[in-house]
Amino acid sequence: MLSPKGADFMAKSRSHAMISKGLDDIIVEESTISYVDGERGRLLYRGFDIETLAKNSNFEEVAYIVWSGDLPTKSQYEELRKQLVADRSIPGEVLSILKLLPKTTQPMDAMKAAVSALAPFDLELQNNSREANLRKSIRLTAKLPTVVSAFHRIRNGQEPIQPNPKLDHGANFLYMLSGVEPTVLAGKVMDTTLILHVEHEMNASAFACVVTASTLSDIYSAVVSGIGTLKGPLHGGANEAALKMMNEIGSPEKAEAYVLKALKEKRKIPGFGHRVYKAYDPRARIFKQYVKDLSEAKGSTLLYEIATKVEEVMIREVGTAKGIFPNIDFYSGIVYTLFGIPADLFTPIFGVARVVGWTAHVMEYLEDNRLVRPRAHYVGPLEREYIPIDQRQERKLTVKTTRS
Ligand code: ACO
Repeated sequence: MLSPKGADFMAKSRSHAMISKGLDDIIVEESTISYVDGERGRLLYRGFDIETLAKNSNFEEVAYIVWSGDLPTKSQYEELRKQLVADRSIPGEVLSILKLLPKTTQPMDAMKAAVSALAPFDLELQNNSREANLRKSIRLTAKLPTVVSAFHRIRNGQEPIQPNPKLDHGANFLYMLSGVEPTVLAGKVMDTTLILHVEHEMNASAFACVVTASTLSDIYSAVVSGIGTLKGPLHGGANEAALKMMNEIGSPEKAEAYVLKALKEKRKIPGFGHRVYKAYDPRARIFKQYVKDLSEAKGSTLLYEIATKVEEVMIREVGTAKGIFPNIDFYSGIVYTLFGIPADLFTPIFGVARVVGWTAHVMEYLEDNRLVRPRAHYVGPLEREYIPIDQRQERKLTVKTTRS
């Protein structure tokens, strides 16, 4: 027999009114971290416009803003920068684990494994105070570029490169990937790329982090959940898919036919559409300009031309009607390609930056924690008869779903 509370839930649940597939528009907390204005295509970190930050700030300062809620003074900025530099190296044991992984391991999976392995080396792992979580957030943010670049070099049979304390976060990341100190422009572009990926409200990966943290697990486990969630092609993995599509299209003249065929077959074009933005994603606009400038500087504009043609057709066909515009993932892959970065590192780069937003959300949520525990709408049978195994008739095993 169901309890009165259970029966009441079943009755309400059966009305279907409580179901929110994909949690569309469900608000799970009040937050001061970022504001996404989906109608006007604006993004603010702690009240600061992303376009202003991309132009005037740098990754380290943006990390300070997102974690603390305000602009740092000069000494606060210097202190955080020093800490981010000091925490860059990873234990030899974690490097050994990266060396033991199959060379075919996807970098996102290597990143997940490395963050899991880093956790026990952090002496503050079980301390869930805000102060300790901030120190761990700084450590994780400092170490992720080292993890991604070390794994990339190991899988190519190269030795990992030690971090260079003289270089900023983004420039050092590029240096550790290639072994070559980047130009000022390349360092600036990578830095801006990281700024644009730092934070984006309660998206799927941030929510995954919060769900894990809400059980009072540790912040490393929360970040592992975030990495696993970001990996999917409907989230961070779309940048790789978008580049693959542009390569498949091959030339701007073929873009229109490709898009029209995909739309006719009801296929989604990667790098377009967003659950919140129904206008042009402001991050995509900044990336588009970078792609144009870098492509022209390198004399290699093919991908840019294909991308702008795809965009033109998409906006004409579904843009205004359905509110489908390029998102951050559409142009970002071209920027990385122009840097010579392989496609399977695009999503890890996203994670290298987004760890700031994930950890900010975890710290904010824990200030007024409530275990995340939704319900499911049960549509299966009730009160079934249990038949002893030797009395059951032979039949093919079937698993019924709500759709079968
Ligand atoms: N290409 C073509 N049509 C699209 C696209 C797209 N990329 N995105 C949405 N649509 C259409 C849908 O087919 C649907 O049309 P219909 O109403 O005629 O059936 C309508 O727009 C609404 O689409 P939904 O999928 O319901 O929108 P939702 O908010 O669930 O999807 C999502 C958002 C998952 C991002 C979707 O737009 C998509 O799959 N895009 C491609 C993958 C991608 O770029 N992901 C990265 C998102 S940004 C990020 O995570 C960093």
